Amino acid sequence: MTNTLNLLLLVGASMSVAIGYWGPDLPPGPYCGKRGTRQCCNDRQDSCSHEILSTLCYCDQFCNRSRVHDDCCPDYEEVCLGISPPPNPITKPCRYNNKFYPPGEKVKQGCNECECVIQSDRPEEVQWSCEQDVCLISEDVINGVNYGNEKWRAANYSEFYGKKLKDGIKYKLGTFPLTVETKRMGSIRYDKNIVYPNEFDCRTKWRDYISPVIDQGWCGSDWAVTIATVVSDRFAIQSNGMEKILLSPQTLLSCNRRYQRGCDGGHIDAAWNYVREDGLLDDNCFPYEAKVTKCPVKPKSDNLPIFCTPSVPERTTRYKVGPPGKLKKELDIMYDIMESGPVHAVMTVYQDFFHYRDGVYRHTRYGDNQLQGLHSVRIVGWGENRGDKYWIVANSWGREWGIDGYFHIARGENESGIESFVVTVLSDVINAKK
Ligand SMILES: *[C@@H]1O[C@H](CO)[C@@H](O)[C@H](O)[C@H]1NC(C)=O
Ligand SMILES: *[C@@H]1O[C@H](CO)[C@@H](O)[C@H](O)[C@H]1NC(C)=O
Ligand SMILES: *[C@@H]1O[C@H](CO)[C@@H](O)[C@H](O)[C@H]1NC(C)=O
Repeated sequence: MTNTLNLLLLVGASMSVAIGYWGPDLPPGPYCGKRGTRQCCNDRQDSCSHEILSTLCYCDQFCNRSRVHDDCCPDYEEVCLGISPPPNPITKPCRYNNKFYPPGEKVKQGCNECECVIQSDRPEEVQWSCEQDVCLISEDVINGVNYGNEKWRAANYSEFYGKKLKDGIKYKLGTFPLTVETKRMGSIRYDKNIVYPNEFDCRTKWRDYISPVIDQGWCGSDWAVTIATVVSDRFAIQSNGMEKILLSPQTLLSCNRRYQRGCDGGHIDAAWNYVREDGLLDDNCFPYEAKVTKCPVKPKSDNLPIFCTPSVPERTTRYKVGPPGKLKKELDIMYDIMESGPVHAVMTVYQDFFHYRDGVYRHTRYGDNQLQGLHSVRIVGWGENRGDKYWIVANSWGREWGIDGYFHIARGENESGIESFVVTVLSDVINAKK
């Protein structure tokens, strides 16, 4: 603090006696002020003192007010320097992690920002004023899941630490609640009377045709990323590798603006309609940027822009699909994946899901269960672990998350609604599967 000129009351030999006299009741000065000079001296000198209650009060600068506050003359400011007291009484700083912060300064405590504020009724007092949001990473989830009886394990992801749950729900997901029209999407039924394998993985059956896991970043674009990767996979599979391409989620993010909110989220029916009517570009010519950028193509002009190299010489148009259809049953979903490749599923995500590390996910009671959001994911297969059936699903949070970017979730029980809205589609390939 700035108060360097201070008075020390030197109590000589009998300190305790002096303190007895020199209590808070000592009347205000002038003491040093009577010396007739306005200056304080720089060092302790008898000539620079004033007698007070039969002992000496030095009018010098070496009194450390923070430590020996009570030794200072109470009238120091006015008398020794001839100035009026500062408008604000000297405030203590706020403290956090053994560091001091003056009023106005901000620190992050967990995921919440705190500001050191002076209390309005007591200006000499300060305290932290903090945001009160639920953080994305929860000790309750990590300990509850890892020391409980769950069939999956939880991790503390550094990317999520210090973030708020509400931001995770908004910017790591991004699928808007399904509209009435979306729910009316035509459903497809196979009802095949066949024996299904216990395990199936598109990445094994169609090696090299399956898109990598993408990191959507802090952008609510799961709808764009999942749809673009499902369509890419299906182009490669249906064309038997002739049109093995990675399609651009950025096309949806930047160009599918009607009814859509970019990184604040999207409707899946509007997105599927865009792919059907306008088509996607190749990711090479319009790479993902995790933000809305300028759309490089005109609406309804379905030819490939000149800066995009076509995947096959015959291709002149953007990459489109037929009408999307809804799969409603576990076995129909399995049949469709086995025949045509990954599908687009929509699930409900709660706080615990963000912590998934491995195992078969089922939503638990740990953590916050108020905030939730819808998430678009890509189912690429299924498996079974000692009778525990699961789907193999690609997330869009990068490869550091989960099992190399994937997760397993209970199958056949509509866990987190994963079986409630599954979309299949056929890609408009130039060369159909031979
Ligand atoms: C004043 O006292 C405080 C607390 O004991 C100490 O940290 C500080 O270094 C002292 N200042 C001087 C100038 O001695
Ligand atoms: C998570 O990791 C961060 C460091 O990245 C650590 O400060 C925090 O205490 C951890 N949280 C839990 C609940 O383990
Ligand atoms: C599956 O779960 C979702 C939400 O969790 C629910 O809305 C839907 O009705 C369920 N579907 C079936 C077929 O039970």
